Amino acid sequence: ATSSDPYDVVVIGGGPGGYVAAIKAAQLGFKTACIEKRGALGGTCLNVGCIPSKAMLNNSHIYHQTQHDLKNRGIDVEGVKLNLPKMLAAKTSSVKALTGGIETYLFKKNGIDYIKGEASFASPSKINVNLLEGGETQVEAKNVIIATGSEVTPFPGIEIDEERIVSSTGALDLKEVPKKMVVIGGGIIGLELGSVWSRLGAEVTVVEYLGAVGAGMDGEVGKQFQKILQKQGFKFKLNTKVISGQRDGDKVTLKVDAAKGGKEETLEADVVLVAIGRRPVTKGLNLEAIGVETDKRGRIVIDDQFNTSAKGVKCIGDVTFGPMLAHKAEEEGIAAVEIIKTGHGHVNYDAIPSVVYTHPEVAWVGKNEEELKAAGVAYKIGKYPFAANSRAKTNQDADGFVKFIVEKETDQVLGCHIIGPNAGEMIASATLALEYKASAEDIARTCHAHPTLSEAFKEAALASYDKPINF
Ligand code: FAD
Ligand code: NAI
Repeated sequence: ATSSDPYDVVVIGGGPGGYVAAIKAAQLGFKTACIEKRGALGGTCLNVGCIPSKAMLNNSHIYHQTQHDLKNRGIDVEGVKLNLPKMLAAKTSSVKALTGGIETYLFKKNGIDYIKGEASFASPSKINVNLLEGGETQVEAKNVIIATGSEVTPFPGIEIDEERIVSSTGALDLKEVPKKMVVIGGGIIGLELGSVWSRLGAEVTVVEYLGAVGAGMDGEVGKQFQKILQKQGFKFKLNTKVISGQRDGDKVTLKVDAAKGGKEETLEADVVLVAIGRRPVTKGLNLEAIGVETDKRGRIVIDDQFNTSAKGVKCIGDVTFGPMLAHKAEEEGIAAVEIIKTGHGHVNYDAIPSVVYTHPEVAWVGKNEEELKAAGVAYKIGKYPFAANSRAKTNQDADGFVKFIVEKETDQVLGCHIIGPNAGEMIASATLALEYKASAEDIARTCHAHPTLSEAFKEAALASYDKPINF
């Protein structure tokens, strides 16, 4: 291919969906470009999502543990102090290393053209780019993959200033620890970032419209999770709706009400975090001009081969259907490119793990009890507490349990729900079990090393069809 030939694949958006699709396309021999307007690759996830939040979660956990837990372990430390600017700088440096690595190493190595600017369709195969350095260019592509991701859903009437009324982006960069923080939305962002600031000293109150926290996790796990977070100092106002919010100087006042109607109440906070979900980003793409259909929630409509309603234009990641998760976007990016190359590509939507990176972590994959009940599926449960696991006890970190849900007749694993230390790593085994349609017995008869947390995983599987040994 010469430089004037059209690209085989142009990817719009350099997040985990887009940059991974671009690498895969180049690896398969396609002439590839990736257009990104942010000025850095990695998208929401690496710049203002997964990565900076995990940096803050990890380091706030170490701080909190140093203050409150080390003395129980025979380690006396004095004068523990938070250096917030340094903690924020450590986060920024992790982000820069990872986003920079995609640009200077991965894209270069794979010969991908990285076009810095905002893309807009002129036709299904011609894309105008408003360059960040100024000026415009047009690229031509045989195949286009839209991977423009998502953004914070605003709360009507509550204006985000990223100082006192913040989205997750502002909450990852507060210059001082708020005394009082109110989080609107008890979903994943609210609980992860609420944990960060609670550990650093804020009094955190979560206002949630529904009767449970954790945005769709298994009900039993959600209840246990809420109890543990309460022990850590979280306050919850469930079944509560926010009516209005206003900043007045350094304070924010929120009016809330029982969801089903009731007494109005006023909450005061130094910082309010709005975390009620995310919405797809399609603004500026000029989709109307090429006839790409979106649904009522603004998501780009695709078929099972990731095709939009415009010829040669596919779409993946947060901007289309499915869970808004980085690994889901990545899987789709690879599958979409493989379909372009070979006509085949596959994502197993029944085996996409979810992880909440609090302490303890919460992780799950497959169906939960509520879903199986609603579907009328007969199932059995196997549960095993970390309090009966030797490693968790030894580590003085034994809150939580592993719960398997298996099909009643066949013992096939239908779902696995873990709350406990290292749940986010352990869920990979359950995902593999679902992928291979394993039975609980397949897991329970697999030798797991001693003493490891994963023995709790094995024993929970055993408990679903037989008696566990150590409990
Ligand atoms: P994005 O990552 O949103 O990337 C899209 C990119 O497209 C953006 O960089 C944007 O600038 C660019 N773009 C948009 N329009 C244009 C245009 N017209 N031209 C050029 N470029 C354009 N997920 C997890 O799996 N694990 C986690 O731990 C996790 N933590 C999170 C924490 C937070 C605080 C947040 C907000 C999200 C988190 N997520 C997590 C979700 C994860 O970030 C998203 O699911 C993931 O980034 C989606 O990838 P994507 O490629 O579809 O889109
Ligand atoms: P979410 O969908 O997880 O949770 C939003 C919560 O807000 C829900 O519990 C909902 O009932 C509640 N809510 C909605 N409207 C409300 C209102 N008016 N008043 C009070 N509560 C209200 O969304 P969140 O936390 O904003 O995260 C967005 C996305 O980012 C998620 O879909 C998630 O997939 C992704 N993410 C993933 C992470 C991970 O994988 N560890 C970490 C952070 C985000």
